[in-house]
Amino acid sequence: MAKRFMVTGALPYANGHLHVGHIAGAYLPADIFVRYHRAKGDDVLFVCGSDDNGVPITLTARKENKTPAQVVAFYNAEQKKAFEGLGISFDVYGGTHSPEDYERHTQISQHFFKTALEKGYLTKKTSQQFYDPEAKMFLPDRYIKGTCHHCRAPGALGDQCENCGKTTDAMLLIDPVSVISGSKPEVRETTHWFFELDKFREPLTKWLESKENWRYVMVNFTKGLLSEPLPSRSITRDLDWGVPLPLSDEEAKGKVLYVWFDAPIGYVSFTARLCEQKFGDWKKYEDYWKDPNCEILHFIGEDNTIFHTIIWPAMLMAEGTFQLPSYVVSNCFLNFQFPGKDVEKMSKSRGTAVWINDYLDGFDPDPLRFYLTVIAPETQRTAFSFDDFMRRNNEELVAALGNFFHRTLTFTQKYFEGKVPEAQSLAQVDQEQLAMIAGLPAKIGGLIESHNFKAALEELMVAARASNKYFDTKAPWSSRKTNMADCSVTMNVCIQTIKTLTVLMEPFMPFSAEKAAKILNLPSSERLWDKAAESLPAGHPIAEPTVLFKKFEMDELKTQE
Ligand code: 2FM
Ligand code: ZN
Repeated sequence: MAKRFMVTGALPYANGHLHVGHIAGAYLPADIFVRYHRAKGDDVLFVCGSDDNGVPITLTARKENKTPAQVVAFYNAEQKKAFEGLGISFDVYGGTHSPEDYERHTQISQHFFKTALEKGYLTKKTSQQFYDPEAKMFLPDRYIKGTCHHCRAPGALGDQCENCGKTTDAMLLIDPVSVISGSKPEVRETTHWFFELDKFREPLTKWLESKENWRYVMVNFTKGLLSEPLPSRSITRDLDWGVPLPLSDEEAKGKVLYVWFDAPIGYVSFTARLCEQKFGDWKKYEDYWKDPNCEILHFIGEDNTIFHTIIWPAMLMAEGTFQLPSYVVSNCFLNFQFPGKDVEKMSKSRGTAVWINDYLDGFDPDPLRFYLTVIAPETQRTAFSFDDFMRRNNEELVAALGNFFHRTLTFTQKYFEGKVPEAQSLAQVDQEQLAMIAGLPAKIGGLIESHNFKAALEELMVAARASNKYFDTKAPWSSRKTNMADCSVTMNVCIQTIKTLTVLMEPFMPFSAEKAAKILNLPSSERLWDKAAESLPAGHPIAEPTVLFKKFEMDELKTQE
């Protein structure tokens, strides 16, 4: 029976470009999962969009001399281009402040706030905060700089001191200045609404107990947080860019929801936009978000864990009519490594980020999808390196998978007039090869369903290597001269193998799978996962092969650095 899935990728902030770390962290594994389930015939919605609200966006606008709306429109379009170029197959790519989404997003976000308030989960508190009189804004803690009140080092920020590593209190910094304007901040009173997270500690703990099959590191981290009282969190900000508070109080004027409150609601509002486009009724989002027959999966990077395993589920519990996530799939960071140097964090200023749109200007998407999956930081941090990328592409993708496709297709073209050869009588070795591929859909599918994407791709590569071995053992170039019937069987089995591999590689390398399917004359109706190992009949036409995977030369990749 077809299953239903609502899959989300963490919303990227709308003031930056996407690099390989983002893709490996959240979007590629999500896309593999989604493409697999579509090939299974399941009902899947894959939703993402940019995270457009919040202080950093307004600061980028200030720096670039643009309006926040211009900033988010620009980066949203850049991100969309990168995702499309890589074949990340979202059904919708929205933006929490985009003209298409803002109204619905505001309405749904305000509903979450109001419900939580009415049910007594929000508390209003007045406190003192720094205000920048020049920039005319209240300053979030990390926008205050001063001398550390622990170690007396200069340059400590209002949330942390880099020198001693301790958490700081902005109010206690010595000689504080605003990072934004450099001016001396004033202390002013302001009122905010706090989410009483601790009220959800017990239900969250119970809920998490049913999630023992989630990735261990994330479950453990979350359990650790839940073992102590959860501090209440301010969910409002003094800002004019975001979702306004749905209150008429004088104190609510000039305030918006904290960006981390409205961001995950973006998953819902983008689904609503999609439902409007697909069914002419945006309220149909409820069929996914409120129907227990639909599984909800969030794919995120490690830094988003607390928001998806504690705060967002608590927000959903507070609202009360939505389902909780079935799964949160969190990946670790992807670092970067120059040859012969230590592993470093990916960073724009240090030139250790590989930008997707730059990469796509010169290279095909599939080798990158392949590499980012084989080095996926699923349970620990891993590192991207150009040497390793080249080696894995040339020695694994091209040498194993590419080679098997190439030799099978060219041989069939040359000696069997581009038609699937007859297979009259199969020897044990042929049957074993067919049995091996017949077992692949379930094996690889099982690994994808349990979010072991790296292992799933490895199975595909093991099969490609075994298939090359089969080809070598059967030596069709020799049997062609001595035993044409056996040569014909061999090539039939090889074609059946590439047919299976074509269907099974689609979630990982969709562009190459599409090319291979064209060569095999495989309509999309034949590319269903459960039909992957069904045979093509003898006589089925095979088109002239084209190159599926190309070797990289070091120099061309180096120009990327
Ligand atoms: O870390 C980030 O890039 C955030 N913008 C992710 C938001 S995910 C979701 F909750 F919207
Ligand atoms: Zn310090």
